[in-house]
Amino acid sequence: MMKLFHNPASPFVRKVMVALIETGQLDDVTLISVAGSPTASEQMPTAQNPLGKVPTLIRDSGPAIYDSRVICRFFDHRAGGRLYPESHLWETLTLEATADGMMDAAVLMVYEARCRPEDKRSEEWVESQWNKVSRALDALESRWMSHLSGPLDMGQIAVGCALGYLDFRHDARNWRKGREALAAWYEDFAGRPAMQVTQPRA
Ligand code: BEZ
Repeated sequence: MMKLFHNPASPFVRKVMVALIETGQLDDVTLISVAGSPTASEQMPTAQNPLGKVPTLIRDSGPAIYDSRVICRFFDHRAGGRLYPESHLWETLTLEATADGMMDAAVLMVYEARCRPEDKRSEEWVESQWNKVSRALDALESRWMSHLSGPLDMGQIAVGCALGYLDFRHDARNWRKGREALAAWYEDFAGRPAMQVTQPRA
């Protein structure tokens, strides 16, 4: 049985979980729950992944693999390749990278508040992270709606998890304002059973 280092708040872990459910492989994996942050890595899988991050996957044989993009690609390959279709491969990977970058920036904003002493926090730095998220949201709204509305792929799953994380941790930023098409897409996408059963928890 493969083992996945897991945290229910992580949008990167959620990507893997949604991909596992959508490809019918959830029962092939045991979840190992870990809590931590860049400044509290005791429980994190530092022996398996020098970066000490979730998700990290221990396969039945071979070294551990990470990060979420690698693990999602691994599971999709194992299931036949539906989530990374050859005909749209570079667009799918770019969409996934866009969503992953949104998650990175959104998580760094949380860590700034959680891990740094109050007098060392930088408002300017937090806002520059939000600017990345905001530009990515505008790009999704103006350039990616047709891809998002096509057959399910890993780019869509990643965007769904990124938007879910914004609702979870940055609700006050009101990301839907001025992005009506993206908001409508997400309302529909968030209703998928795989999204419903992986809603983030602290
Ligand atoms: C969070 O609590 O927001 C979080 C936890 C693990 C990874 C990323 C984010």
